[in-house]
Amino acid sequence: MHEPSPTLWPIGFAIGVAVLLVGLIVDPVLLGSIGGAIAIVFGALWARDATSELRGRPVAIEPERRQPAAAHAVAPGRERFPRSKFLEGTTLGVGAVITGLVAVPAGGFALLPPFLGQKRHKVDLGPLTEFAEGQWYIATFMVDPSEGEVSRRTAFLRNNGNVTIGKSQVPSFTIISNHCAHLGCPVQANGPSGAILGLKTLTETTKNGKVTLLPVVPAGFGCPCHGGQYDTEGNRTAGPPVRALDRYSFEVDNGRLVLLSTYSVSHVDGTGAQAKIHKYKETGPGEHVDGVEQILYPLNPPHH
Ligand code: FES
Repeated sequence: MHEPSPTLWPIGFAIGVAVLLVGLIVDPVLLGSIGGAIAIVFGALWARDATSELRGRPVAIEPERRQPAAAHAVAPGRERFPRSKFLEGTTLGVGAVITGLVAVPAGGFALLPPFLGQKRHKVDLGPLTEFAEGQWYIATFMVDPSEGEVSRRTAFLRNNGNVTIGKSQVPSFTIISNHCAHLGCPVQANGPSGAILGLKTLTETTKNGKVTLLPVVPAGFGCPCHGGQYDTEGNRTAGPPVRALDRYSFEVDNGRLVLLSTYSVSHVDGTGAQAKIHKYKETGPGEHVDGVEQILYPLNPPHH
């Protein structure tokens, strides 16, 4: 009985899997597809060779081991498909099926949701008249009331008054997320708020549930976790955060302030209505959005 000669198929298959994994991080469409194609082709060739004996086809053997044609005849009483081969194939097959049944759904549920399209929610914070010009507020609101309090978020916002764009006057707001740009801890306003100022917390029920607006006078924002510090435009001033705080985009709908999605910011030049915000697609905490470091974080699932 001969053994099949070693082939390059497993090596090609391993290279394909490696390219696929790297591609998932660097470029899922191009590199991921190439890696997947290499893995499938070499995997199929490997499987074909591995099963050729079971399928009754001759396998490649080294020349010096070639036997005379008569030796290929099945000896009387010898099984063409040995039981050991059958059991080996069955065990591997059942193992593969069980692994697939367990691993594929688990991996899918764990990894896929962030990459699937997520609903973007608009958040109605109430009428513009609630927001005194120049006053900062800590706003809390539910992104999706159907999910309840677990969807409650916090933002720091200030009414900058109107700015002139073209011939029209447009309301300007600075609306900063409280997610620290280091590891996402809730950032606090550094300064007195609420009762100390003699100002009342405003509460309102909108279609996004209960919204609270707590007046505050921040000298900046600080993170209790590792000491990250930001100025009132959200620029990092100290500590481990690698960029400025994220911001909310907004629109004014029928005289009401409506929050839209969040975006990331490398830094902000200037302040208030005159601020020049260096915007980027929303990126996870701790990730650079500009400079050479940004290439270290090429793949980002969408966020709320
Ligand atoms: S999470 Fe804010 S400084 Fe680390």
